[in-house]
Amino acid sequence: MSVIDFTTLPRKNKMYAGANGGKISVIYEGEQYMLKFPPQSVRNRDMSYSNSCFSEYLGCQIYACIGIPVQKTLLGIYTVKDVEKIVVACGDFTEPGITLQDFASLKNQMIDSERNGYGTELSDILLTFEEQTAIDQKVLTERFWDMFIVDALIGNWDRHNGNWGFLYHAHTDQMELAPVFDCGSSLYPQADEKIMETVLTDEKELNFRIFEIPTSAIMVNGKKIKYFDFISSLQNEDCNRALKRILPRIDMAKIYAVIDDTPFISDLQKKFYMKMLEKRKEKILDFSFAILEKADTRQSN
Ligand SMILES: Nc1ncnc2c1ncn2[C@@H]1O[C@H](COP(=O)(O)OP(=O)(O)OP(=O)(O)O)[C@@H](O)[C@H]1O
Ligand SMILES: [Mg+2]
Repeated sequence: MSVIDFTTLPRKNKMYAGANGGKISVIYEGEQYMLKFPPQSVRNRDMSYSNSCFSEYLGCQIYACIGIPVQKTLLGIYTVKDVEKIVVACGDFTEPGITLQDFASLKNQMIDSERNGYGTELSDILLTFEEQTAIDQKVLTERFWDMFIVDALIGNWDRHNGNWGFLYHAHTDQMELAPVFDCGSSLYPQADEKIMETVLTDEKELNFRIFEIPTSAIMVNGKKIKYFDFISSLQNEDCNRALKRILPRIDMAKIYAVIDDTPFISDLQKKFYMKMLEKRKEKILDFSFAILEKADTRQSN
């Protein structure tokens, strides 16, 4: 596969916000892309840049494998002041007259409440689904929980209210779900080679990164949700339904093939991603699904 070099492509003036690294807009093969540059690694001081570009790419590719609409992603290089950087290009899904509005903005419409748009308390989010009128409640609820399950698989800790949303068609006043975007905080972007090796050989370290961290950005009673605890508790019917919907659509062979074909990453990195995904699926999703099936059978007997 030849490496895509984004350095000399035509630029657009479109700007993108977000706290995780530089971004520019370019045209590649006639389409507009947001290029995301690797941010400095903050959590791991032994690492100069985080792996979040690979996380973005793989997270989005996994969403695509599962069949959930997601932004297009490509990996390539970009040279800044003689330094070659690996970047991820995210297909810009907006158009003139079709803008992205995040869930935080929808939550801000709840003007009679004290909820703030960026607050991620689960009960407030679910209440917003009921009270809003911009989009079909079932469609909204299903997307939220489908994302919750896939984010549990890929270990995404940052699906805050600004990291999912809607496409607003100004001419018709219609609102639809936007493709999934920003998966840059999944798949352990701060793990360096030493951590990867440790996790691959030490079960305790592995389990810590499955059951304890990363947590979800969503909170219950002010505390960030631990994916395993929440999903295996079967406490939310919509979450249970999403598990049943999504799990049969996860094809690990397909996901491993995507990882295998990913450019720039080392064999160790490939092994690490495959193992984490295999174990997260098995220990969080398969485990919860099995007890859910048991509970369903008990109920129907
Ligand atoms: N594919 C896309 N098409 C159009 N706009 C996008 C796309 N992806 C992201 N955006 C916009 O650009 C902003 C920044 O992108 P993104 O969320 O990926 O960056 P980030 O720095 O990782 O964000 P965060 O602060 O959540 O970590 C988003 O909040 C959204 O408004
Ligand atoms: Mg973001």
